Amino acid sequence: MIALIGGTGPEGKGLALRFAAAGEIVMIGSRYKERAVAAAEEVRRRVPYAWVRGALNRRAAREADIIVITVPFEGHARVLASLRNHVAGKMVIDTVVPLAFKKGRIDVVPVEEGSAAEQAQRMLPDARVVAAFLNLSASELAAIDRPLDADVVVCGDNVAARNATMALINRIPGLRGVNGDGLASAHHLEEITALLLTLNRIYKKQTSIRITGI
Ligand SMILES: NC(=O)c1ccc[n+]([C@@H]2O[C@H](COP(=O)([O-])OP(=O)(O)OC[C@H]3O[C@@H](n4cnc5c(N)ncnc54)[C@H](OP(=O)(O)O)[C@@H]3O)[C@@H](O)[C@H]2O)c1
Repeated sequence: MIALIGGTGPEGKGLALRFAAAGEIVMIGSRYKERAVAAAEEVRRRVPYAWVRGALNRRAAREADIIVITVPFEGHARVLASLRNHVAGKMVIDTVVPLAFKKGRIDVVPVEEGSAAEQAQRMLPDARVVAAFLNLSASELAAIDRPLDADVVVCGDNVAARNATMALINRIPGLRGVNGDGLASAHHLEEITALLLTLNRIYKKQTSIRITGI
């Protein structure tokens, strides 16, 4: 089972749709049960065969095998701290990009550990943290009638978790998981997101990435 922590926002709901459409069992987590249940109902309306439920974040993390973090960076550290007792040995996929929007510019906020995913690994030492989906727009994920067309670079220190995340990504039509090495590379993914958002503004389109040559 895959839990989306903060799964009521565009990124979490978009991933829930795509995971559910690929046949995965999904739990949408929230700080408020009614929001989680409503988001799960929305996913089921769009993917009628979806196996999806809503629950409080902590319960979702406790019951799931794979935990996906989809909260804004402001809530990242606090949410991770609340999950500490429920993640031992589990794979935690961190999608969080620490962005700042200032005077029309989009920048990555410096994180002491190097990146949001490295912060997650430091705070959850018993979990196997990977960074993934940072460069994929929620609106593309939400357009369930359109196939995706993107690579998803995965960074993580645990090789088995990195490979398992790439395999999960490959189950979603139109996506390809790409091995991005250890967590020390995750800050590159954050910077790419800032660049893509700038391109989206200039071209008035939703951009994503494809790596050629492999
Ligand atoms: N949107 C995109 O296109 C995109 C693409 C790639 C990566 N990401 C990353 O995905 C993450 C989520 O993006 P989003 O656009 O879905 O964000 P969002 O809508 O701002 O937030 C997602 C959910 O997080 C919960 N939340 C909000 N503030 C919180 C806080 N302070 N503490 C704990 N939970 C909080 C809320 O759920 P409840 O109120 O129900 O608890 C909210 O529905 C971000 O870190 C972003 O960098 C987003």
